Amino acid sequence: VSTIRRMREQDADTVRQVDAAAFGAWLKQVQGGTAPTYRRTRTNVLACRGKDPAGCFVAEEGDQVVGFIFSRTWGSVGWFGTFAVLPRYQGIGIGKRLIAASLEYLRQDPSRVIGLETMSDSPYNLGLYLRLGFQARLPTFLLSRHLDPLGDGEIMCSPWSTASAGTRERWLVDLREATGRLQNGLDYSKEIMSTVQHGLGEVLVLDDGEQAVGLSVVWLDSVCEGWGAERASVQVLALHPARTDDGALFALLRGSESLARARGKPVLAVPVNACHAWALERLLQWGYRVERAMVRMVLGSTNRGPSIDGCVDFSRWAG
Ligand SMILES: CC(C)(COP(=O)(O)OP(=O)(O)OC[C@H]1O[C@@H](n2cnc3c(N)ncnc32)[C@H](O)[C@@H]1OP(=O)(O)O)[C@@H](O)C(=O)NCCC(=O)NCCS
Repeated sequence: VSTIRRMREQDADTVRQVDAAAFGAWLKQVQGGTAPTYRRTRTNVLACRGKDPAGCFVAEEGDQVVGFIFSRTWGSVGWFGTFAVLPRYQGIGIGKRLIAASLEYLRQDPSRVIGLETMSDSPYNLGLYLRLGFQARLPTFLLSRHLDPLGDGEIMCSPWSTASAGTRERWLVDLREATGRLQNGLDYSKEIMSTVQHGLGEVLVLDDGEQAVGLSVVWLDSVCEGWGAERASVQVLALHPARTDDGALFALLRGSESLARARGKPVLAVPVNACHAWALERLLQWGYRVERAMVRMVLGSTNRGPSIDGCVDFSRWAG
C-alpha cells in the first residue's frame, strides 16, 4: 500500500525520472515505439513546487517514489498538474489518491474554481477525471507563430527587469485589480515572481501611464531538456476587460515576440482557451496557427459552465 506525503525539494530528481517514464510510455503508446523521452529541467520542477509547496505530493511504495502531483493556485482559480504514476504502478488507485490530496489542498478556498487540462487523445485520463466529477469544458489551444527574424523589435510595453522596486509594487496591485475583473479573486502574481526568481524569462507590463492594465509572462527557456530550444512560450497573458482592444492585445503580443526574437527564439507559443473567442480570432488573423488542443475540465460543483467572452486571459491549466 503506497503512502502519500508532501513533495520535498530533495525529491526533484526522482520526480523528473517518474515524469519522463510516465509521459515517455504514453508518447510511445500514441506515436509508436520510436518516440523519444524528454526530461523536465530541475529548475522547472523546483519552480513548480515552489509556487504551491503545500499542494505538491508524492506517492511512495516502500522508499521508492512511484508517483507525484503538483497543485497550482491563482487566487480563486486552482488546478493540478503535472501529475504522473510510473507505468507499472498505474491502474491500482495511486493516481486517485494523489488527486484526492491535491483536491483537499485546492478546496481550502471553498469558492475556488478547480480544474485541470489533459490530452484530448487519452481516454484513460478523460475517463478518470469524468468519473471523479470533472466536466469537460471548452478546449485550450496551443497556438504558435514563426517569427519574422527582421521584425522591428519595438517593445510597446515595459519589462519587469528594468522597473524600479516601487513600480513593481504598484504593478502587482494594479494587475491583481485587472485580473480580478476577469474573474473575482484571480491573481497571477506568483507566476510573475517565480519567473523572475528562477530566471525563466521576462514579464512585460502594459502601463497606460496611470496604471498597469495587462501583463505577459514569457518563458525563454524550454521546460524539457533536449526539446523546444527554439521556442519561447507565453505562460500567462491577460488584460483588464475594460482596456481590452486590438491595440492592447497587439502591444503585449508584439512585445512578447520581440523578446523571443532578441533571445534567438524563432517561435512563440501562446495558450488560449476557446472561450475567449475574440482573442482567438485575432491571433489567427495575426499569423498564429493551432498546434494542439488540450481538454479543459472543471469540477462541476465549482463553476457554472462554459460561456464565450471577449476577454484576454491566456493560460494553461497544466504544468
Ligand atoms: C494519469 C495517471 C497519473 C493516472 O494514475 P493511475 O494510478 O493510473 O490512476 P488510478 O489507477 O488511480 O485511476 C484510474 C481510473 O481511471 C479509470 N479509467 C481508465 N480508463 C477509463 C475509461 N476509458 N473510461 C472511464 N474510466 C476509466 C479506471 O477505471 C480507474 O478508476 P477506478 O479505479 O474507479 O476503476 C497515470 O496513468 C499516468 O501517469 N499517465 C501518464 C501521464 C499522464 O497522462 N498524466 C496526466 C496528465 S493530465
